[in-house]
Amino acid sequence: MTKTAPVLDIDAILDDENTRIVVCCGSGGVGKTTTAAALGLRAAERGRSVVVLTVDPAKRLAQSMGLTELDNVPRRVKGVGSPDGSGNGSRGELHAMMLDMKRTFDEIIEAHADPERARQILTNPFYQSLSSSFSGTQEYMAMEKLGQLRRSGDWDLIIVDTPPSRSALDFLDAPERLGRFLDGRLIRVLMAPAKAGGRSAFKLLNAGFGIVAGALTKVLGAQVLKDIQMFVSALDAVFGGFRQRAEQTYKLLQAPGTAFVVVATPERDAIREASYFVERLAEERMPLAGLVINRLHRSPASALSAARSTAAAEDLEARGEHELAAAVLRLHAGRMQLAAREQREQEHFMSAHPTVPIAHVPAMAEDVHDLDGLREIGGLLAT
Ligand SMILES: Nc1ncnc2c1ncn2[C@@H]1O[C@H](COP(=O)(O)OP(=O)(O)O)[C@@H](O)[C@H]1O
Ligand SMILES: [Mg+2]
Repeated sequence: MTKTAPVLDIDAILDDENTRIVVCCGSGGVGKTTTAAALGLRAAERGRSVVVLTVDPAKRLAQSMGLTELDNVPRRVKGVGSPDGSGNGSRGELHAMMLDMKRTFDEIIEAHADPERARQILTNPFYQSLSSSFSGTQEYMAMEKLGQLRRSGDWDLIIVDTPPSRSALDFLDAPERLGRFLDGRLIRVLMAPAKAGGRSAFKLLNAGFGIVAGALTKVLGAQVLKDIQMFVSALDAVFGGFRQRAEQTYKLLQAPGTAFVVVATPERDAIREASYFVERLAEERMPLAGLVINRLHRSPASALSAARSTAAAEDLEARGEHELAAAVLRLHAGRMQLAAREQREQEHFMSAHPTVPIAHVPAMAEDVHDLDGLREIGGLLAT
């Protein structure tokens, strides 16, 4: 028996002026960036003023949206809306930007520390490694940017793509993790052994960091200790701000105007990740809009089952006739089996989460790398 799920009504979400933020999340490579861009384009062409915050767009997709510079500010996408966008004449506007993680971090420091202290922090080698390689920094900075865009009030809809981390949950965990790291109390713990001085202090310090982030243990050497002390005392002034803003952004994500769209491909790992994410959103009381199952394979001749197709191919092969037809039948059988597997994966999700609305997007023959491709994906999402 085939189960059915409620349909995810994308247009209802995009058209609802109470929807202010759409967050596209899911595990790596499932189509988050593509979905975010497609939703943004569709919303703009349906009359909304939209900004899409992309994190790691593929190069050609970025170019097609005019994202050639990594300048960390939204730019209007040409070919969408009018008159300035010179697009199809709709009232809406599409703006897009690519997240520059380090730049976002720098901007926070600049905004919250006096110029001299800001300079001390920004030129500190420890800061440079933290701002570009701390695990979770990208997730945190995506949230920070989201908060900034929301506070600016310049757009009526913000679509957020999430970083390419392995686990979708990283996005939600990052503010807490980084917040804890930058929290004054912990920093004081780290400072205490440093003040005692000497080798044992350095070991203790490293142990302290180990708890927070294994990524930093690669930092070694006496100069580093000095740099850390400098960094810590200079950054002290901005700590409260980080934590507070992370908490604000968390609240923003829980607000009724936010819609989480979880993206998955119909494969075991991606579906499992989507399940975890859906459960986590419920725990956090964050509003889930639904699941997008992307890159579904369907057969144009689904009336012919895999078994009958294989049997027919075997028959032709046994008789040594119609080689090409036999090959086509085998291909068809493979495709039907794939579709059946994908259906089973979906059904796992549906039995665990029977009330979660789902939208389907078939696998396209080619990568999605221009506005027409995005428009097509947007149309498929909405049907
Ligand atoms: N429905 C689809 N059909 C075909 N290719 C797709 C589809 N959705 C996404 N892609 C392609 O898959 C790749 C990964 O998509 P992307 O959106 O970058 O994933 P993510 O952001 O989740 O890592 C891109 O090359 C994109 O063009
Ligand atoms: Mg991406």
